[in-house]
Amino acid sequence: MIITVASGKGGVGKSNFVANLGIALAEFGVDVVILDGNLTNGDLGCILGPPFPKKTIHNVIADGVHIRDAVFQHPTGVRLVASSLSVDDVGVVEPHEMRGLAESLDGIADVVLMDAPGTLGRNTIESLKLADKVILITTPEITSYANTLKTKKIAEKHGVEVLGTVVNKVRRNRAKIEKETKDWMGTDVLGMLPYDENVIESVEYGRPVLHHRPYSDYSIEIKRFGAALADVEYAPPSPVKRFLAKFIKF
Ligand SMILES: Nc1ncnc2c1ncn2[C@@H]1O[C@H](COP(=O)(O)OP(=O)(O)OP(=O)(O)O)[C@@H](O)[C@H]1O
Ligand SMILES: [Mg+2]
Repeated sequence: MIITVASGKGGVGKSNFVANLGIALAEFGVDVVILDGNLTNGDLGCILGPPFPKKTIHNVIADGVHIRDAVFQHPTGVRLVASSLSVDDVGVVEPHEMRGLAESLDGIADVVLMDAPGTLGRNTIESLKLADKVILITTPEITSYANTLKTKKIAEKHGVEVLGTVVNKVRRNRAKIEKETKDWMGTDVLGMLPYDENVIESVEYGRPVLHHRPYSDYSIEIKRFGAALADVEYAPPSPVKRFLAKFIKF
């Protein structure tokens, strides 16, 4: 099953969500691969941190490399198909060429979690068209809701099932935001992830927050979300342990 994570606006937190959710799902025993669907500004490799895969989605599309050979077992536990980090590969692959991935992608894992680009261009539309299901992600702002709603409509136009919406960078009244999101998006709210400086810090350190700050509010919400998707039990760490984790590394 291919699940694309898409927004409608850049910078709402898609890539961090995909990277960390992928790690959580792998930890919970799900046969998962995360795939960078962004052909020009792929970030998943950077968010997971080194080592970087030698083969990328660009090699699969442009050089005929089999997708199985581009699946990279990352030390964080998740498997990744990265997008090229090289400026020389920008523009080498056109979005419509992603269509050729449809059959081979299905065979690489039970769940392929694809990170889509931020804006609603051809690359995002092709990432949606490849998907069986889509998870929408937005921040709690009118501009983000409005653009994500466009993405939802495009997904539906192409017959892709919309699983629901995740709200990221939540800082204020959760009940109000949940209602606002339902009203705007007309979907279930699958999860609400807190605004958490630890995410920004982890990106600076070149490590996914789930490993860098496993007891942070964001990491715990991602684990909760992943456990629900994987249909497994998850007991979050106690408040005492979470408090101590601010000072001691467990
Ligand atoms: N919950 C959060 N709390 C605080 N900062 C966050 C959170 N989620 C993401 N960020 C920060 O927001 C910025 C954008 O995150 P990310 O790259 O994941 O977004 P994106 O939607 O994939 O962006 P793009 O559309 O450019 O691909 C980064 O600086 C990241 O550290
Ligand atoms: Mg991104």
